[in-house]
Amino acid sequence: MRPRTQARPRPQAVLTQRGAALAIARTFAYMRGSQTKRPGGRTDVAKITYIEHNGTEHVVDVPNGLTVMEGARDNGIPGIEADCGGACACSTCHVYVHPDWTDKLPPVESMEEDMLDFAYQPDPKRSRLTCQLKVSDALDGLVVQMPEKQI
Ligand code: FES
Repeated sequence: MRPRTQARPRPQAVLTQRGAALAIARTFAYMRGSQTKRPGGRTDVAKITYIEHNGTEHVVDVPNGLTVMEGARDNGIPGIEADCGGACACSTCHVYVHPDWTDKLPPVESMEEDMLDFAYQPDPKRSRLTCQLKVSDALDGLVVQMPEKQI
């Protein structure tokens, strides 16, 4: 991960246009039913624990195929704002992943790494953007904690 010592200007206009286009695309994908379903229509889920900054825990079943951000959004969990709708263009879906899970998640890709630079008090080892974490059986039991605030 790149050192976070240098502040860079935020290309807001470009991100906003791109973010809107991607958010629309994701919405249509969601409406088409992008979750993984087993025969009989049962949707597989992963149990994910979201911990607010004040310690309040929310344990919810999130369907496979959604993102960890969408799991919070769909369950009304506070602390993940997701202003760009999941387009990796705002960093307001930032969380700290429980230390037991940091090595079990897919690696941070460059776009997420860049956006984490704008997150509130990112932790180089534990910070992730929840819109970039796709829910699957492998994430069953994941624990994430929201920061004190989003940017
Ligand atoms: Fe905007 Fe994740 S929702 S970066």
